[in-house]
Amino acid sequence: MGLIAEKEKRRAVAHLQQKAQAFETEVALRQSEERFRLLVEGIQDYAIYSMDPHGVITSWNSGARRIKGYTSEEVIGQNFSRFYTSEDVERGLPGKVLQIAREEGHYEGEGWRIRKDGSRFWSNVVVTPLRDEAGNVLGFSKITRDMTERKLLMDRIQEHAEELDKAQESLRRLTARLLQVQDDERRRLARELHDGAGQILAALNMNLESLQDAVKEQIAPSLNQRLAESIRLANQVIKETRTLSYLLHPPLLDEAGLRDALHWFVGGFIERSGIQTELEISPNFSRLPRELETAIFRIIQESVTNIHRHSGSPKASIHLALDLDEVLLTISDQGRGMPSVAAPEEPKSRRKLGVGIAGMRERILQLGGCFVFPLPAGSASVYQATPS
Ligand SMILES: Nc1ncnc2c1ncn2[C@@H]1O[C@H](COP(=O)(O)OP(=O)(O)O)[C@@H](O)[C@H]1O
Ligand SMILES: [Mg+2]
Repeated sequence: MGLIAEKEKRRAVAHLQQKAQAFETEVALRQSEERFRLLVEGIQDYAIYSMDPHGVITSWNSGARRIKGYTSEEVIGQNFSRFYTSEDVERGLPGKVLQIAREEGHYEGEGWRIRKDGSRFWSNVVVTPLRDEAGNVLGFSKITRDMTERKLLMDRIQEHAEELDKAQESLRRLTARLLQVQDDERRRLARELHDGAGQILAALNMNLESLQDAVKEQIAPSLNQRLAESIRLANQVIKETRTLSYLLHPPLLDEAGLRDALHWFVGGFIERSGIQTELEISPNFSRLPRELETAIFRIIQESVTNIHRHSGSPKASIHLALDLDEVLLTISDQGRGMPSVAAPEEPKSRRKLGVGIAGMRERILQLGGCFVFPLPAGSASVYQATPS
């Protein structure tokens, strides 16, 4: 008897202890829920609120009050679509937001929302469905951040980037136009020199020679000498005028094409500069559209002038090849290299790219090609151009 009573008593105590523990756990849970509620309530930087499955607001924190301007009394029981612009409401965005959150377990988006005072703010929102243990959607939580300042900043950056793009585009157009005008002007000057001054000089020379023939026997040797000297000077001017005219625009370029024009030009360059220049043109290299031939000629002209002026190299080489419909042009020297490569400690020199190199790049870009300057390691200073 006594034993059974003892057992029952122990069971009753254990039962009581269990109940007490469950109660304590419940209290602790409630306290932690309450703390969590207070935590959410106290957050100022985020509007946090909950909704029922239809989007009717059921809770409202102080951040929501601060960001949207409504007190909880004003919005609890209202549909959250009231914060959307009328255009967004018309295209059914609030409903879509809840649908996506329900189907995908999460919705995140950005857009304009309306404050109580009617002003707009750019929001970043995250909507998450709240489910019971069986997975039924009990409602949604929504966290909204006011990103207006960042949005305005991003818009301004975007605007500036667009302006910059436009400015660059017009600069490129201007450069292209400038190069075109320069080519036309050189061609015109070359013709003028050749047909104008060149013809007059040739006539002058002929006159001098016939004068010499006519008076040679009758005038003093000193006068004869002066006449011969004049003829020599006239010949020199004729030669120089012709060289100048041909350098401005080689007639061979239009008539015979790049191959002949380059052989003539490189021959003259070797003579004038003393730089041993190798010119290799692939056998399949045929005639190309005029503007392409002119561009390639100008690039080579500018490059070898640079080699002469800046590299100190005794040698130069020019390779020109045609591969399918691509032109590959490589120009190299064995000189001191670009200042930035040779002396990286001088940062200012690195920025010094004259109009020569800029012009080459522009010509190639205009033709849809690719410009590499200087070529990496190995040779000192190289231009590579691939107009297509
Ligand atoms: N082949 C080269 N070797 C060494 N430096 C070069 C060579 N080509 C160009 N440079 C450097 O690049 C600079 C810019 O060249 P460029 O644009 O043609 O302008 P410019 O010839 O009028 O100075 C030159 O001043 C020179 O310092
Ligand atoms: Mg130059």
